[in-house]
Formats: sequence, C-alpha cells, structure tokens
Amino acid sequence: MKDSKQFWDKRAEKYVKSPIKDKTTYQQKLTITREYLNVENQLLEFGCGSGGTAILHAPFVQSIYATDISDKMIEIAKQKAIEAGVENINFQQGTLDSLNARNESFDVVLGLNVLHLLKDVDGAINKVHQFLKSGGFFVSSTSLIGEVNIVFRWLISAMQYLHLAPHVTNFTEEQLIHKLVKAGFSIERKLRTSSESVFIVAKKVS
Ligand SMILES: C[S@@+](CC[C@H](N)C(=O)[O-])C[C@H]1O[C@@H](n2cnc3c(N)ncnc32)[C@H](O)[C@@H]1O
Repeated sequence: MKDSKQFWDKRAEKYVKSPIKDKTTYQQKLTITREYLNVENQLLEFGCGSGGTAILHAPFVQSIYATDISDKMIEIAKQKAIEAGVENINFQQGTLDSLNARNESFDVVLGLNVLHLLKDVDGAINKVHQFLKSGGFFVSSTSLIGEVNIVFRWLISAMQYLHLAPHVTNFTEEQLIHKLVKAGFSIERKLRTSSESVFIVAKKVS
C-alpha cells in the first residue's frame, strides 16, 4: 500500500499533464455515467486521481466524496476544483479500506482506471457494495491485464522490477463480471473500450 502511494505521489504532476488518449470514448463514458446520476445523488469516487472526472460530474449530483491514495493527486484535485468554481466535492486522501463512511450511504460509486491497480479486487468490490444504497450503481472502467498479450505482460513485470510500473492484478472481463455478480451486482451496461479495457455499469441487486 505504501509502495502504491509513493508511486502515484511521484507521478502525479506528470499524470495530470498527460492528455486523455481517446477523447471520444472518454466523452461516451461521461454520457453513459450521467444516465445514472441525478441532482439528489451522493456520489463516491475512489482512485479519483487529479479529480478531472469528478469536477465534470459535479453539476449533475448533490455531492461527491472523492478519494485517492495519493496526497499529491488530492492536492492537485483540490486546486483544480477551486479554479473550476466547484464547491460540492470533498476531496480526501484515502482508500476504500480507510474510508470513514456509513454503509449504504452512496447512490453511485465510481472506480475509474483503478480496479486493476488494487491488490484485493474482490475486497474492493465488496466494500463498494457495502457503501452503496440498495439499487445503487457501481461505474467502473479498468484495464484487463489478464487479456494483455504475454510479451506486454512480461514488459510490465520488467518495468515493475525497475519501479517504473505500479502493482497490477490480472483479470479478464469474464473474471471481473464473475466477481461483480458474486458480490451482488447485476451488469446493466458494458462497453468494451479497447481490446484490453472495459467500462461497466453494475447495479446493486442483493
Ligand atoms: C490510472 S490513475 C486513474 C485516475 C482517475 N481515476 C482517472 O481515471 O483519470 C489511478 C489512480 O488510482 C490511485 N490509486 C492507486 N491505488 C489506489 C488504492 N489502493 N486506493 C485508492 N486509490 C488508488 C492512484 O493514486 C491514481 O490516482
């Protein structure tokens, strides 16, 4: 956990400056997410990075609790929210495990480009389920490292050895869906955003 924090603290400034690679898909994901938001919603985002997506969704909900393991990301996110004049986001450093929130207190949870970075993916999905109200939605997008070709996986391992890549957990789309269903979600929407990544809206049904 400490390693992840150090890794992302170090890269925060550079990450913020890197442009969104596929703007059309990003916009499509924003549009789909908004179909599940309303102005009375309490939204939680974990792994929010520098807060760009939370800031864009802020006008569509009542409040957002946005967290990230990296203090540096949160510092940048707070500054960006001030500059954007957005006042309904509470940015806090933390993880799903350290989150001090009541069970069933959020209508929607976002976990974008973060699930594959977690060591305990099942534990995280169970936490999301715990924090969501009944009938609430978990919106996630993730790399599917389990579907990446062997050469690229080998490259990731080499980069991790050199501390140039973070921890990643391998799962395929099928395995991720199985984890979500096992935790008590049904799959509402699924968008294959590239050959190795997927965007899923899951509903808490039990
Ligand atoms: C690839 S970035 C994605 C940021 C943002 N969600 C986005 O889509 O641009 C991954 C983010 O997850 C955060 N992160 C990594 N491990 C985490 C953990 N265990 N708990 C919370 N955040 C974590 C990192 O600090 C980083 O900001």
